Amino acid sequence: MAEEALSIVDKRTQAAYEIPISNGTIRAMDLRQIKTGPDDFGLMTYDPAFMNTASCRSAITFIDGDKGILRYRGYPIEQLAEKCTFLEVAYLVLFGELPTEPQLKEWVSQVTHHTMLHETTKRFLEGFRYDAHPMGMLVSTVAALSTVYPEAKHVLDPNVRKLQITRLIGKMPTIAAYTYRHSLGYPYVYPDNDLSYSENFMNMLWKMMEPKYQANPVMARALDILFILHADHEQNCSANTMRAAGSSQADPFLSTAAAAAALSGPLHGGANEEVLRMLDVIGSKDKVPAYIEKVKAGQFKLMGFGHRIYKNYDPRASIIKWAADSVFEVTGRNPKLEIALELERIALEDEYFIKRKLYPNVDFYSGIIYQAMGFKPEIFTVLFAIPRTAGWLAQWQEMIQDPEQKIARPRQVFTGHMIRDFVPLEKRGMPAAAATA
Ligand code: CMC
Repeated sequence: MAEEALSIVDKRTQAAYEIPISNGTIRAMDLRQIKTGPDDFGLMTYDPAFMNTASCRSAITFIDGDKGILRYRGYPIEQLAEKCTFLEVAYLVLFGELPTEPQLKEWVSQVTHHTMLHETTKRFLEGFRYDAHPMGMLVSTVAALSTVYPEAKHVLDPNVRKLQITRLIGKMPTIAAYTYRHSLGYPYVYPDNDLSYSENFMNMLWKMMEPKYQANPVMARALDILFILHADHEQNCSANTMRAAGSSQADPFLSTAAAAAALSGPLHGGANEEVLRMLDVIGSKDKVPAYIEKVKAGQFKLMGFGHRIYKNYDPRASIIKWAADSVFEVTGRNPKLEIALELERIALEDEYFIKRKLYPNVDFYSGIIYQAMGFKPEIFTVLFAIPRTAGWLAQWQEMIQDPEQKIARPRQVFTGHMIRDFVPLEKRGMPAAAATA
């Protein structure tokens, strides 16, 4: 008898079952034995949107949504944000441990030497319309890398995986910067290997005629912190997409493109762009109460609020708030901050939000700080995708190495017609009896 078990009596048959409990879960496949007879398929669970289903075992990211805790590989996000660089955290997320000094040196050097895009990929980017959304350009260009590196399809080879991981971490900022320059009609800037990950990204975004780009250290550090905060977030919509696409052994460029597509939606990574649009619509602090009333009436959602897992303040939102102060010292305060703070103040006192445990999430303040740094809202989700690539690849690698994982293939509850006789074209639309006569 299992030490921890669930006793089930099927009232349809009076049969009793004992289902083992492990890590607070039962295995859905253990329910299959519960049948009404030999022809019965067996019991399944029905869980739209995976509200209560663990789809994997993972050692990467821990979240306690009620307490507002986020840890990568056991390290609190607050400590990592304060003490690490993004590439150090990416290494931790991807390979399980903080790098030693030589490991970090080697990792930084490898990533730095994989930042260039093939010239044909650069030309591919030039084919987009001048007003193409940067996320569409990013998704397509990441997918296009699959054609440049056909060996990436050997996903079961650890060396091949490591090389593609390095390439993706190295090339994401380059693609992101090119999408930005393209939308402005500016010439592309090649990576500068003397600069750090964030500084080089800023170089590719903003360098004009100066011979060498000098990044403002406060802004570069703030960007690095934002990257750290976005590196992974366990089984969110895009991570789940990465795992599902990768489970067919699609190569990591195509799987990452799929994950980035999932990220682009306004309920996920696209929310940061929507927050800024919402603040524009509200316009001023005094209009906040009226806007909140419309949210409560169900006219629209308060973007940047609420989370499937956090039922408390998103710890990333708190860190962004203090990182924002250092940016505002350089750039001056973003006037939208006043509106955002007022929205937060009113929402956190309001019964509607308290009852539903709706708190600001990571996207509520990230857009305000990005805008103060000089980014346009269209690029915000791309800024999310750069660091999240580390998380996607860590999830993908873990999935590939997990002997329990197979191609992702959920079941369904079929609700359609069970069987019908074919109706010829000339008889369609007639009453059923006449049509089949
Ligand atoms: N504004 C107003 N009401 C909300 C909001 C919101 N932002 N979020 C949830 N609710 C209400 C929702 O209408 C529902 O009310 P009721 O019980 O009366 O029907 C209740 O709260 C529970 O919400 P839910 O839709 O069942 O929650 P969910 O876990 O399915 O959705 C969410 C989570 C993040 C999609 C949702 O909160 C949302 O749409 N938020 C706005 C978009 C956003 O900020 N997304 C970024 C998420 S964090 C970063 C990331 O993942 O990319």
